[in-house]
Amino acid sequence: MKQLTHNRTGLKGNLLVPGDKSISHRSIMFGAIANGTTTVTNFLMGQDCLCTIACFRKLGVSIEEEAHQIIIEGKGFEGLQEPTDVLDVGNSGTTIRLLLGILAGRPFHATLIGDHSIGKRPMTRVTVPLAKMGAKIDGRQNGEFTPLSIRGGELSGMNYSLPVASAQVKSSLLFAGLQGKGKTTLVEKEKTRDHTERMIKQFGGQITEDGLTIHIEGGQSLKGTSIQVPGDISSAAFFLVAAAIVPDSEITLKNVGLNPTRTGILEVLEQMGANMEIIPTDADSCEPVGDIVIRYSKLTATTIQGEIIPKLIDELPIIALLATAAEGKTIIRDAQELKVKETNRIDTVVHELKKLGANIEATEDGMIIRGGQGLHGANVSSHGDHRIGMMLAIASLVSNEPVYLEGEEAISVSYPTFFADLQQIMK
Ligand code: S3P
Repeated sequence: MKQLTHNRTGLKGNLLVPGDKSISHRSIMFGAIANGTTTVTNFLMGQDCLCTIACFRKLGVSIEEEAHQIIIEGKGFEGLQEPTDVLDVGNSGTTIRLLLGILAGRPFHATLIGDHSIGKRPMTRVTVPLAKMGAKIDGRQNGEFTPLSIRGGELSGMNYSLPVASAQVKSSLLFAGLQGKGKTTLVEKEKTRDHTERMIKQFGGQITEDGLTIHIEGGQSLKGTSIQVPGDISSAAFFLVAAAIVPDSEITLKNVGLNPTRTGILEVLEQMGANMEIIPTDADSCEPVGDIVIRYSKLTATTIQGEIIPKLIDELPIIALLATAAEGKTIIRDAQELKVKETNRIDTVVHELKKLGANIEATEDGMIIRGGQGLHGANVSSHGDHRIGMMLAIASLVSNEPVYLEGEEAISVSYPTFFADLQQIMK
């Protein structure tokens, strides 16, 4: 149990948050299936991304760390070899779902396992469409849950409308589409993060997008390149909210990824009246990047629903905390996907914030938070979910009594230096 700091005033200073998790995973995957050398700087050394590296090493790919860079020697899709051991994805939904799309076109067998949380996360959203393209996949409860076994092979392109707004499903099918015969056309339910599409182009591939429709031709080969991973806006989000709710704060978050499919949190902060400046810094990059200056201010409630949800899906736990500090009733709708994240994040957020005295209730597809009342102390738990752990650590800064956190080790999944970075702005 970790005792957290409480009753803070004035967070100050600059922070360089670690590399983006989604982009770090994809940099290894694309590096592995491209031809030639790929170098990655500012790679996120979190547990999830280390699992992706371990899986690709088991598939025979050389991945080395040298002078703060990751160097991947890709030999094309054909360079991947049948693994002699199970592929363990740990806690990472991105690893398992995207890896399935890559393995779907490989003519060998592999078994995929993960931790307790992965064992509860739905996989038919990828295994069913991948089977439609020609892969053979089985697993517990008709392929819904791990352990999964896959035997890939010849795939055909397909036309498919995604039943859920999910970048993981889209990306998995794009990896399969790259290997299929003919064209694959995907229609998204809502626009989700587009790092895979951007990276296909960065690695010399072709993909066309027209609104929610994406076309990709099979049989493409990609070329190794160098990737600069921007700071993770999903990690920055914890400190954006901290500065917005802790009186007398002013912090600058440097080199944050500002891909418009990820910046829903900034729109919400603006709607709620946060005192914030966004300074774009790298116009040439494949992914937009910038600095964000944020100061404490009085906040008002808002409603969050519809097509913004995929742009802030991972930020909803910390947005729930933000809403406890805003005057009025904040409503979050259309966020039923929260139920199938690392934990059921509607349940875990509501349960843990209630312990701290928040006025928050769960709904079928989100939460309702009545803010402005302040928080008190309690023993809280991450439930093994990194984003719940970090949200509670930020909550402790505005509670008027000590908060004790169980399961803080889960935070290393996406932000191993979280507590050190928090210390830096508390000096
Ligand atoms: C991710 C997509 C999102 C997100 C996850 C990372 C990705 O999941 O919640 O943390 O890297 O593609 P879904 O696509 O399942 O919504």
